[in-house]
Amino acid sequence: MHTVYFDSTVSDDDRRKRLYEGQIFVFSPKPSTIALVNHAREMIEEAFKGLDPKTAQFEMSVEEYVAIVAPLKPQFIHHPKTKGLIQDILRELNCNLEETYLDVPRLRMVTSDGYLTSGVGYAHHPHRDTWYSAPMSQFNWWLPIYDIESECSMAFHPRYWAEGVENESNEFNYYDWNKTSRANAAQHIKSDTRKQPHAAQELELNPQVRIVCPPGGIVLFSGAQMHSTVPNTSGFSRYSIDFRTVNINEVRTMSGALNIDSSPTGTSLRDFMRGSDLSRMPEEVVAQYDVGGPAKEHLIFKPELAQV
Ligand SMILES: [Fe+2]
Repeated sequence: MHTVYFDSTVSDDDRRKRLYEGQIFVFSPKPSTIALVNHAREMIEEAFKGLDPKTAQFEMSVEEYVAIVAPLKPQFIHHPKTKGLIQDILRELNCNLEETYLDVPRLRMVTSDGYLTSGVGYAHHPHRDTWYSAPMSQFNWWLPIYDIESECSMAFHPRYWAEGVENESNEFNYYDWNKTSRANAAQHIKSDTRKQPHAAQELELNPQVRIVCPPGGIVLFSGAQMHSTVPNTSGFSRYSIDFRTVNINEVRTMSGALNIDSSPTGTSLRDFMRGSDLSRMPEEVVAQYDVGGPAKEHLIFKPELAQV
């Protein structure tokens, strides 16, 4: 059974329980999300210097497009306003900021008609974030920045919530990924050779669920959900923001969604900061996730390499 809760007012504790059972939450735009979207729009529109970002891809070469959007990604993360706006969203959605940890938000663009599908415009294949070393307790928050259509949205593949698939996550190590793959994303214009964990079997991608919400609407789901980027055939580029949270209680107890097929090494938990004061997570909590101990370097995501 899959339920999409719309503008639910259940407590954060109940919401987390339901998310760990595979349910999805959708929220209408709120003052805090509209503020974040406006902030992102300002940055994007300034970078495109008067061109409409949704159709700018048709006015320039793909190399020129990449030259504009690649620097935007780290700029968005580094901007002094960005983290505070995320904290405001969590507050407005009744998360306890002492317990809730967030990572830096990512700005993504998915162009139409196969113009750019690799590197900085990577259209994600069906995956669980937990294949990429996310903890089973991770939540994903996703917001469109402009109006979207089903043809440029994100898809959930609900069959695989409860059904494990053969996949390459056992070959994925978070620290290796930080070291090699992210920095090179802007170079991947025509194809993408970065080693990412894929399913190693045929997937049944339909029926799939797509959610179309207004700019500043939020789709909230477990990082264990099988999801993918819809190949954009809408005729315009899609811009979105996503960020992740965890609750420290579930991180400590290593609980969350059931792990049915994720076996990467390393953990992304060192990227998370406490909602109240942006302090990092205690190392002894994180260390539980490092089977065989952490790597010596490249433990955290470097925003200046925020290409994916
Ligand atoms: Fe994802």
